[in-house]
Amino acid sequence: MEERSRHALIEKAACDHWLTREELSALLADEEAEKELAAAADRVRRAYVGDEVHLRGLIEFSSYCRQNCLYCGLRRDNKNAERYRLSPEAIVVLAKKAKAAGYPTVVMQSGEDAWFTAERLVDIVREVKTLGLTLTLSIGERTADEYRALREAGADRFLLRIETTDRELYERLDPGMSFDNRVRCLADLKALGYEVGTGCLVGLPGQTVDSLAQDILFFREIDADMVGIGPLVPNGETPLGNEPPGDMRLVRRVVSAIRLLLPEANIPATTAMETLQPGAREIMLQSGANVMMPNVTEGEARKKYALYPGKACVADTPEHCRACMEGRIRAMGRTVGTGAGGRRRNN
Ligand code: 5AD
Ligand code: SF4
Ligand code: FES
Repeated sequence: MEERSRHALIEKAACDHWLTREELSALLADEEAEKELAAAADRVRRAYVGDEVHLRGLIEFSSYCRQNCLYCGLRRDNKNAERYRLSPEAIVVLAKKAKAAGYPTVVMQSGEDAWFTAERLVDIVREVKTLGLTLTLSIGERTADEYRALREAGADRFLLRIETTDRELYERLDPGMSFDNRVRCLADLKALGYEVGTGCLVGLPGQTVDSLAQDILFFREIDADMVGIGPLVPNGETPLGNEPPGDMRLVRRVVSAIRLLLPEANIPATTAMETLQPGAREIMLQSGANVMMPNVTEGEARKKYALYPGKACVADTPEHCRACMEGRIRAMGRTVGTGAGGRRRNN
């Protein structure tokens, strides 16, 4: 793209928070756009969500999964995955520790584990909510009734990535899952008053920049409160083990474009990025992101929740990561968020 038209497009996105799919595709395809996009996203980030970086304590409470996503180490056909399931009591203990360590929000994440019935989860949610924490669930697809019961028990937010809006690609990579049901889940969650986080993977085989542009327009269309993006980190225990990893520069352009089009959204600098490129979380926090999700899972479970290999920080303790992140955030001239860090609405 010519420098003048690139500049004009980025300025338009930073002002109007809108681009057509063709315009978005052109920017995402343009490797030279990376720095200017990031600088614009950093400005928009400061104007809309400020300098605070919100930390969410991530509790990975079960590695059992009934699904079989082709990219993921927790897929049910991965016989080499060591499975674990934390007891409800152990989950509450981790939530208490996260609270004591100063995390205002915890995220309870797992594979799609049927042992955790809505009934069992409702009890855990109630307990965790008595601690005064903001609670995010990331447990996959459930019925509207289950989502309702969990919301009534006090769950505040829900993360469910759409992974890709290319229906054909989605159904090929997530065999047995239906794209329509995924969209239904996101709509139910919104209607129930959850703050909804979604997102996609970058670097899926067969994915195009045009498809990523469509993903971004989808995030806008459903008014996503949070958008998490990660590069594909090939996992040798999965059918996508020999694919090349997602392109970090493209991930960066996608993250920056999301900030321009969804200026109020919470956008994490994800662990998958840090895994592919140490230091990437800082770069992303300066390219539109404003959230980090340090893992507060302890011991063996921390190692066994292996979506992909080489996960950043698996060998570190939750205390170490908390201090490390605070240091990194301050070194960038930013501050650690003090409140719940929910979706801000500016109009
Ligand atoms: N590389 C990167 N991200 C992955 N996820 C699952 N497997 C991988 C992988 N190999 C992501 C999915 C899921 C989230 C919890 O982890 O996007 O939604
Ligand atoms: Fe299960 Fe989620 Fe992994 Fe798919 S991505 S196999 S649903 S844990
Ligand atoms: Fe885990 Fe730095 S954040 S070691």
